[in-house]
Amino acid sequence: MIGAEDIRKAFSMRDAIESNREAFAIQAEGKAKLSVRTSFNVEGRGISSFMPGYVSSFPRVGVKIVSTFPGNAEKNLPVVGATVLLLDPETGLVDALIDGTELTRLRTGAVSGLATELLANEGAEIGALFGTGGQAASQLEAMLNVRKLREVRVYDVMRDRIAPFIERVSAMASRFGARIAEAPSPDAAVEGADVITSVTTASDPVFDGSLVKAGAHVNGVGTYEPHKRELDEAIICRADRIFVDNMEAIMAEAGDILIPMKDGKLAKEDIAGELGDLILGRSEGRKSKEQITLMKTVGFATLDIVIAHKIFNKAVEMGIGADL
Ligand SMILES: NC(=O)c1ccc[n+]([C@@H]2O[C@H](COP(=O)([O-])OP(=O)(O)OC[C@H]3O[C@@H](n4cnc5c(N)ncnc54)[C@H](O)[C@@H]3O)[C@@H](O)[C@H]2O)c1
Repeated sequence: MIGAEDIRKAFSMRDAIESNREAFAIQAEGKAKLSVRTSFNVEGRGISSFMPGYVSSFPRVGVKIVSTFPGNAEKNLPVVGATVLLLDPETGLVDALIDGTELTRLRTGAVSGLATELLANEGAEIGALFGTGGQAASQLEAMLNVRKLREVRVYDVMRDRIAPFIERVSAMASRFGARIAEAPSPDAAVEGADVITSVTTASDPVFDGSLVKAGAHVNGVGTYEPHKRELDEAIICRADRIFVDNMEAIMAEAGDILIPMKDGKLAKEDIAGELGDLILGRSEGRKSKEQITLMKTVGFATLDIVIAHKIFNKAVEMGIGADL
């Protein structure tokens, strides 16, 4: 059994970025199978979702289970709970139970980290982060890992969450020599920003894409329902190179992409490809310093299974985790 602290001991953000690089290549080479999320509404109390995946190159099979039960808040329990179950490829028996919440934070931050490393301008100095919830700290950590940012502006619609968030991440950010500042408005956050990450639960766009500077890179992480979006049409239309994590999942879930497509403002052909295509050299990334690049992710099982496999191997090697 590998808990959140064990994961952090065994696996760094840099490890997670490299794990994702491999996972995207595995997916693009057709060496992984996954089925779409299966979700059950449990008596109106909450939703439990099952995301299975099989990576033939290792080989490894597993499933991530995520439950969202809003009533848990009153019971002092987490509203969202996630676990990854990893099976032994020889016997099919359970090898490990891994804390899925920490694993998801790490791999989701690392998706933006990898996209930023591959697409943002080398000299990027200013970051902007929208959202200060459970996923935000690892998004910030990933951003700081891949570009030498001197300042990151943070904005959340719940303004009282910003200062405690900055307090929580200040030690981590100072290791990278970055100043984390509260942005008074979405416009102020975006103005002059070289790397922008949005990781919110918003249903409508969180910043004005017409204010994004030429040469910026944008990561869209938060929304995953077809009728919701946190990125507006302006930034989708202005982006010169749009990459997605997984085309099938994006076409099923990502309102940021699907709403402009429905409105005739974006065609599927306008999407440059998956991050895996970029990694394998099948698609070209940024072509000039002035281009705006954009990556939209909703997540997919291969990322979870690959990182779970690597965390498990590392934990066994280091003697970390509890035997059940
Ligand atoms: N792409 C992926 O693979 C992936 C993985 C995990 C989570 N997610 C998604 O990321 C989102 C964020 O997750 P979380 O756990 O941090 O959620 P959370 O509920 O802990 O935090 C979300 C934050 O967004 C803020 N917010 C909402 N609307 C906003 C707006 N208009 N402007 C600025 N901030 C706004 C909220 O106030 C809140 O602080 C969720 O929608 C989640 O489903 C995506």
